[in-house]
Amino acid sequence: MESFKDKVIQATEFVRARIGDRPRIGLLAGTGLGDSVGSLEKVTSVDYGRIPNFPVSTVPGHRGRFLSGNMGGKPVLVMQGRFHYYEGYTIKEVTIPVRVMQLLGVRTFILSNAAGGINPLFDTGDIMLITDHINLTGGNPLIGPNVDEWGPRFPDMSQVYDRKLVAIAEEAAIEDGLRVQKGVYVGLPGPSLETRAEIRFLKTIGADAVGFSTIPEVIAAAHGGMAILAFSVITNMNLPDNPMPCGLEEIIAAAERTAPRLQAIIERVIAKLDATD
Ligand code: HPA
Repeated sequence: MESFKDKVIQATEFVRARIGDRPRIGLLAGTGLGDSVGSLEKVTSVDYGRIPNFPVSTVPGHRGRFLSGNMGGKPVLVMQGRFHYYEGYTIKEVTIPVRVMQLLGVRTFILSNAAGGINPLFDTGDIMLITDHINLTGGNPLIGPNVDEWGPRFPDMSQVYDRKLVAIAEEAAIEDGLRVQKGVYVGLPGPSLETRAEIRFLKTIGADAVGFSTIPEVIAAAHGGMAILAFSVITNMNLPDNPMPCGLEEIIAAAERTAPRLQAIIERVIAKLDATD
């Protein structure tokens, strides 16, 4: 049976043959942002469905393809759409596209997701810079044999979200006249949303926002030595004393309303990165 490593290498060679391996910057465009990578220039695309060993996206709001092009004056490899644990993939399979990015030479990884706000000072439509995370997915993509060429057996997680990149993103937001929040993202498996008791628990353990993605990809990227910058779009507020039902349409609509602001910040961040990053 083919190993995970062999599967990733096969997938990487397929993508490399179509886009080459120039990009040093990777962008994972999550819910809502997926459709608004409009400022990408000179685009080559590769549908996930054509790539050997790739999972297939099943969630509305998530397209499934790699886009290679220029953004903020620099070559960027975009993942338009991601995979989730709750779709039935293993947590390791969810990280296949990140490993492909790593093998193609991506060193700086920017991600976005939709998340529920837990910090009562947040509001729907806020953009939160993730400063740290809590992995409550119940799994870890690094379980199993370690691929030593990809990263260490026990990767350090004491500073996963790059402080320099967070500072650059804050500066970019100020220049655009936009407010950003900062906080801790907690990742759950989903897909059922949180009960009020769960929200109280998550608040107690230090979470500012909650979602069902990002943790697997970030762990793989950290293992691979990438500099990581991640944004949560707060699509709904989870206040245990004022519970409000929330559905996927609302989440997608709120993410789409926020997308132009987030895209402006991301473009400005990319423009500010050193050419060597
Ligand atoms: N919970 C989990 N994931 C989410 C939420 C939420 O409230 N909103 C958007 N993604």
